[in-house]
Amino acid sequence: MSAAAVIVAGGRGERLGSPKQFLPLGGLPMLLWSVRSFEAHPGVSEIVVVLPAEAAAEPPPWLKGESVRCCAGGDTRRASAGLGVLSVDSNADWILIHDAARPFLTSGVIDRVLAAASDVGAALPVLPVSDTIKRVEGGRVVDTPDRSRLGRAQTPQAFEAGLIRHLHAMAAEKGISASDDVALCESEGHPVAAVEGDPWNLKITTPADLALAEWLVTSGRVSVPRSGSETGDPF
Ligand code: CTP
Ligand code: MG
Repeated sequence: MSAAAVIVAGGRGERLGSPKQFLPLGGLPMLLWSVRSFEAHPGVSEIVVVLPAEAAAEPPPWLKGESVRCCAGGDTRRASAGLGVLSVDSNADWILIHDAARPFLTSGVIDRVLAAASDVGAALPVLPVSDTIKRVEGGRVVDTPDRSRLGRAQTPQAFEAGLIRHLHAMAAEKGISASDDVALCESEGHPVAAVEGDPWNLKITTPADLALAEWLVTSGRVSVPRSGSETGDPF
């Protein structure tokens, strides 16, 4: 059983101030961290990287030595993920969809979502919510949802290949928007397994997140993935 990985890296990074997937992190462009993690995973046979259209036309030179296929993304994350899924050309049984904005994914989390997806058809990693959550409208607190029933969604999210192809084709046709891929299953009533997320698999959205990620690297909490084909400093 093999899996293809689609890494969505087609965003503009507006909240961070630049397309974060290309910024250096521990001497490696952020996007390369997840490329290397998928390259190192024995269950992953193909990697598609979804880039902003202008970068897809001329991919960055540091991607040339990697075993990836590049394609152009769309205006939304949903559109980019759909275009990435369409670009998978192997007969992979499973498709993993991952945000380039989460550089610290591990083989453990990939294993967990693949195992659960093989039972249920779709799976994602989830972390418990530790903050008290408030619903706020117009500057006023409306209520306090029960946080024991809430979870923080992560990527990679894993799907049976035919299922996610169908869901993205339908979303493109009907203009359905979704901030992650399992939401497409939910709207069709397709079950999704929730597996244990990884607290280190943080999402880099703001400058504060990037500063934290840099500290995790410099303090040795996470280590820079290396590849056999690496020839030198990509910068
Ligand atoms: N993404 C994408 N195509 C888009 C929008 C987002 O491939 N049109 C990707 C991003 O590159 C990122 C992931 O989806 O890896 C999660 O999106 P997010 O963290 O929101 O990144 P950006 O959209 O780049 O950031 P912002 O919303 O701050 O502009
Ligand atoms: Mg975004």
